[in-house]
This record gives sequence, C-alpha cells and structure tokens, in this order.
Amino acid sequence: MKIEPAARLEGHFAVPGDKSISHRALLFGAISDGETHVRGWGRSGDTESTLGAVRALGADVEELGTDELIVHGVGLRGLQSAAIECNNAGTLARLIVGLLAFQDGTFTLTGDESLSVRPMERVAEPLRRMGAQVETTDGHLPLTITGGKLEAIDYELPVASAQIKSAVLLAGLGATGRTTVIEPQPTRDHTELMLRAAGVTVTTRPQSVSIDPPERLSLGSVDVPGDFSSAAPFIVAATLIPESRITIHDVNLNPRRTGLLDVLERMGGRVGILTRRRIGAEQVGDIEIRSAELTATTVKSDEVPLLVDELPLFGLLAAHAHGESWVYGAGELRHKETDRIEALVDALRAIGVRAKGHEEGFSVTGVPARPKGGKVDSRGDHRIAMLGAVAGLSSREGVEVLDAESVGVSFPGFYDLLEQITNR
Ligand code: S3P
Repeated sequence: MKIEPAARLEGHFAVPGDKSISHRALLFGAISDGETHVRGWGRSGDTESTLGAVRALGADVEELGTDELIVHGVGLRGLQSAAIECNNAGTLARLIVGLLAFQDGTFTLTGDESLSVRPMERVAEPLRRMGAQVETTDGHLPLTITGGKLEAIDYELPVASAQIKSAVLLAGLGATGRTTVIEPQPTRDHTELMLRAAGVTVTTRPQSVSIDPPERLSLGSVDVPGDFSSAAPFIVAATLIPESRITIHDVNLNPRRTGLLDVLERMGGRVGILTRRRIGAEQVGDIEIRSAELTATTVKSDEVPLLVDELPLFGLLAAHAHGESWVYGAGELRHKETDRIEALVDALRAIGVRAKGHEEGFSVTGVPARPKGGKVDSRGDHRIAMLGAVAGLSSREGVEVLDAESVGVSFPGFYDLLEQITNR
C-alpha cells in the first residue's frame, strides 16, 4: 500500500478498545461465575483468536454487536480439554497457559509462523515450578500443558514482561498459598486491576505483586477504553505534520502504558489531556495533539516497559528531532512479532534516515525536515506497518508499505481512519 505525504491532520475521533484489556476480559470472563458483559471490546485478529480459544475451552460467548459481548463463565476450574490456535496473538499464548495450569485437562497451543518462533519457555518454566506439566517444542509453540495441583511460588521475573507476570499470577489463582511475582521494572498492570475488580485479593508493593487464590471470580461487566497503542500512530503523525491538530476521545491513560507521552513531552511535543476520568478500574481521557518541533532524547531501560509497543514510533519521532536519540535496555524488542530493532532500523534507513541498531536498543540521527520516503517492509508486523504508514504521511515522496494488511491483528480500520483525518 502506498501512503502519500500529508499536508495536515485534523479531526476528532476514537480508536478501538484496548487489545490487552480485551484479551483479559474474555479470558477472565471465561473462568468467572455467571455472565460478564463486555462493552467497547476491541475486535481484531488477535482478540478474535482469544474469542475462538475461550469457546474451544467451553465458554459460550454471545456477540451483541461488533464491540459488545456476553461471556458465560464456566467457573474457575471449569475449562475443558481443547486444542487452541493462537495465530499471531502472543498475549493469548502467554496468559492462557497460566489459566490452563490448574484445570483438569490437557491442552495444546499452536500459533502462526511468527508466534512459533517467539519464546515460550519463559512462561513454561515458572509454571513447571508450581507443579504443571508443560512441554514446549524447543522452547516454542506447539506447547502441551496438563493441568494439576499447583503450589504457590515467589518468582523473580528474568525480564520485565507483563505477559510472564500475568501467566504466573493467573496460575496463582488455582494454587495453594500466596503467589508473588517480583518485577525488575513496573510493567502494565491490567491483569492486577481486572482481577481485583473480579473480587480477587491482589496485593501490590513497589516491586512485586501477590495474589491469594479465590473461591471464585465474578467480573460482572468490563468497559474497555480506547487502546493507547492504537492512538499512538495518530499522536505521532499529528506531532510530525505541521499545522495539525487532532483530538482522540476515551483513550486508556493507564500510566504503565503512556510512556510515549512523557517522552514526547521531553522532546517538545504539544499534548494536552483534556479530561481524565475512570472507566471501571482504568483511567481514561481525551488527548489533544498539535504539531511541534522536537529535540532528541534518550529512553533508558526503566522507561522501556511503559512504551514497549511504541518504541518503533519513537524511532520516527527521533528521525524528525534535532540531534541524536538513543534507546537502551530494550532487548525485548527482538522477541516481538518480529525483531523490532532490526525491522525499525531497516525501515528508517529505507526512507532516508540515519539509524543504527544495537544489541539492546537503537540510535537515530534526527533531521528536522521530511525524510525522502521509499519502501518499508513491515515483515508482517502490525506495529512496523503502522510506523511505515505514518512515515509515508510525514515524508516528501510517500512510503510503500509491504504486508500492509498486517495491521488487522490489532487495528483493522487503521488505514481508513488515517485517510479520514488526512488533508493532502
Ligand atoms: C502485553 C504485554 C507486552 C506487550 C504486548 C501486550 C500484555 O508484552 O508488548 O503487546 O497485554 O500483557 P511483554 O509482556 O512480552 O513485554
């Protein structure tokens, strides 16, 4: 798909429901007692995989519309043996094994080509320590898990990852005793917030989270706010294209997700939070973005989990900023849907930007002018495809995005919305 340069972005709009929260609403609804009413559910390739998974495990889900669901829970230990196809969804693959670890059954998980080379031993290993039988295929999918009687553990995460943290905490729901996860850096806490809303005792300390096994979960309803990660390409595009001004309504502003806003503020970005309120357990607000001149900055490892999915977009901000920007301590990017350090650096170079990949990060030499443009290979990774599209708008000659349809795993209507707010 060819994305032509934009003269200005303008408009008021909302983005689809948060993907992390949408996965969790289905998974936790499935093991709840009674019905869970989910509104604002973010329908995408990845969340449809979770919908298929919970149905295969025996939970009925009624679809009242594209973004409204009723999940009929089967209770904490009521999931039935099944083969689960995770497709491209890493969050599904990592979180669900935690729930399966204490069910009475045997389950197999498979994934697409990209998910089948992503690490799974990182969740298998702590679950084995708790007593589950887990077999990976050389550390990857396909994975087989047989649930059993689990003992609580104290587990120190080897890497800052909300997916691993969540898998261990979810296994803790069915273990005897209190399960504690110690985090090297704080990561997104949607699991903790939603479990608490379902009546589970979750104790958080600055560097750890503990969970006490409940008798049952009762979620009732979940209102899913807009996905900050889907808002991010628009935030970046409006910042980079002169004379732009956009407002994005009802975006999730969980501080563990909005690191991009702090980084952007340091760089000189003009972002205003117009209203801030709560929807259920999560913070939500309207964001106004105006174009701005940027200066380079450095992102260090402590900050990385707060914008982990937005780091490719940070690379594009850096390309337009005065000076050299650096990212450190982001080795986890190499284990995403693709090696995002390599994919990003190749994408930036392909449009005429000076960028360099490092073992655990990257650096970009910014020039406050539009890059030439060219051809960006998304490698089938939705976040790289979105980066390529935004780069097209802010380029001189446009960008051709290869495998552009990969955006569908998180945001099927992405290009239509981008087109609606673009003036050429
Ligand atoms: C997610 C956690 C992050 C993130 C992913 C969604 C989640 O992964 O990159 O897109 O919903 O828990 P890691 O936990 O591997 O960092």
